[in-house]
Amino acid sequence: MKKFLDLISEEMREGFYAAGYERELGRVTVSNRPDLCEFQCNGAMAGAKQYHKAPLSIANEVASHLQDSRVFSEVTALAPGFLNLKLKESFVSEYVDEMLRTEKFGLEEPDAVRTIVVDYGGANVAKPLHVGHLRPAIIGESIKRISRYCGHHVIGDVHLGDWGLQMGLICMELKRRNPGLPYFDETYTGAYPKEAPFTLSDLSELYPAASQRAKEDPAFKQEALLATVKIQQGVRGYQALWEHIMAVSLPDLKRNYASLNVSFDLWKGESDAKPYIPDLVAHLKASGLAYESEGALVVDVKEETDTREIPPCIVLKSDGAALYATTDLATIWDRMKNLHADTIIYLADKRQEMHFLQVFRVAKKAGIVREETKLLHIPFGTMNGKDGKPFKTRDGGVMRLEDLVHEINEEMYHKIVESRHEIDETQARETARVVGLSAIKYGDLSNQAAKDYIFDVDRFTSFEGDTGPYLLYTIVRIKSILGRYREMGNQVQKSAIRPAGNGLEKELMIQLAGFNAMMESACEESAPHKVCAYLYDLANAFNKFYHETKILSEEDKERRDSLLSLLMLTLGVLETCIDVLGFSAPDRM
Ligand code: ARG
Repeated sequence: MKKFLDLISEEMREGFYAAGYERELGRVTVSNRPDLCEFQCNGAMAGAKQYHKAPLSIANEVASHLQDSRVFSEVTALAPGFLNLKLKESFVSEYVDEMLRTEKFGLEEPDAVRTIVVDYGGANVAKPLHVGHLRPAIIGESIKRISRYCGHHVIGDVHLGDWGLQMGLICMELKRRNPGLPYFDETYTGAYPKEAPFTLSDLSELYPAASQRAKEDPAFKQEALLATVKIQQGVRGYQALWEHIMAVSLPDLKRNYASLNVSFDLWKGESDAKPYIPDLVAHLKASGLAYESEGALVVDVKEETDTREIPPCIVLKSDGAALYATTDLATIWDRMKNLHADTIIYLADKRQEMHFLQVFRVAKKAGIVREETKLLHIPFGTMNGKDGKPFKTRDGGVMRLEDLVHEINEEMYHKIVESRHEIDETQARETARVVGLSAIKYGDLSNQAAKDYIFDVDRFTSFEGDTGPYLLYTIVRIKSILGRYREMGNQVQKSAIRPAGNGLEKELMIQLAGFNAMMESACEESAPHKVCAYLYDLANAFNKFYHETKILSEEDKERRDSLLSLLMLTLGVLETCIDVLGFSAPDRM
């Protein structure tokens, strides 16, 4: 379906044309004075210069040509030359009626379907997921879903940090405690044990201990660096240990992501870039871009137009170890060669901005990607506590993701049990989980990603205001009206949506009609917060309408059917929006 605003603008353009002016002047926007009109056009003002005429007389002429428009019920010219617009009820209801009957509520397939890789999550193996991993998981999941809903071919990849120093640190800490393990005996040629020499809880203690030791003991750190190189080179014993670490860590990571309703198509990591590194390095050398500097291999990426210092990108360390930039470049190589990516979107903390700038420039300069390939880093800000400092546990430690989710669910659970005494324990727990997730995700996504935000448990879990639970509450309300209608022995079916019976109903319809334009721009701009803003406005429009309108007790059957269809459409749009944000609604709450 054409976009609602485009249809309105088209009609306005015809008005300008009929009055003898160029069509382009007829661009319509949403009114910034909703008390006066629904939409507005400032084209007469823009045309005044060009036509040497007073804007008000242009506006008057255009208005007179639109008196029997099928789109506008009112076109009013106002000094100094504004055109204030109101829409015909029938035009609005016909549009939403068509939405109800059209696939994806009238959102059209993209002109060009793109293959988009979303690189998000980014957990580091063997380190517990902490709150810092919340944002890339939540925002990335939503960007993936929005792009997919809009018709693109989208692949989500967790891109685990599985090849860095933390792996070497764990190996060395293990060696220190258990020097007799066969993994460290270079003369050992037998098979290694199938079972890992540690459990998940050992692992969560091994890493912090090793990391602390490395800070205090430079020799230990040196050994860990060496162990990391051995892992990367695939030295047998180290490779086997690495596999143990992965096998113990992965199920836990998967469980954690699943609890956030986050799922990946690919569970690849930095280590999967290994096979592409030799080709990458050879290519960079052959193209003349890479040169040696203090033993390391580097590529210059600064450009004349830069206004700040952009240091060279180090693609290999002097000891031959792969760096963050090495694996990222080799991963781009993989994604171009095997996934045929048109766009790669990275979710990473804004402090990594320089890293991505360097990597992207190398990729473009060296022709690893095509001229038209889009490489996009979506930087996100910090999640802060109420004190404005990075979110911490009560005693000041790093908050584990699991604990945060648990805390929110507890809070939700108490609220639910308080308001619904009859609810049984299992149901209350399950509802708390679903509603709790909406609180966390909406609380995050409703902010522009790049901004820091305050994680405020009380506000996020409130049933009122701009929150996830409020949206779910609205959805549950609609479900319950439709459910009651069914219980009365009726079938809910798609009937014709008729012209609005009151102003609030019309406002609801106009809000619904903006769906396809909103979704398309959220996709173009990788901006889930746009979906959030739309959802909140839609929920408000619905609740206002609902308070003023009788639905089930409406006696006129045609009108009742029309209202019920409007409810179905509202429910469908709301549920689609929360689905692309990555959460869902319970049946009751
Ligand atoms: N593991 C990284 C971190 O914790 C994030 C990975 C982001 N993705 C990437 N391709 N570099 O900071």
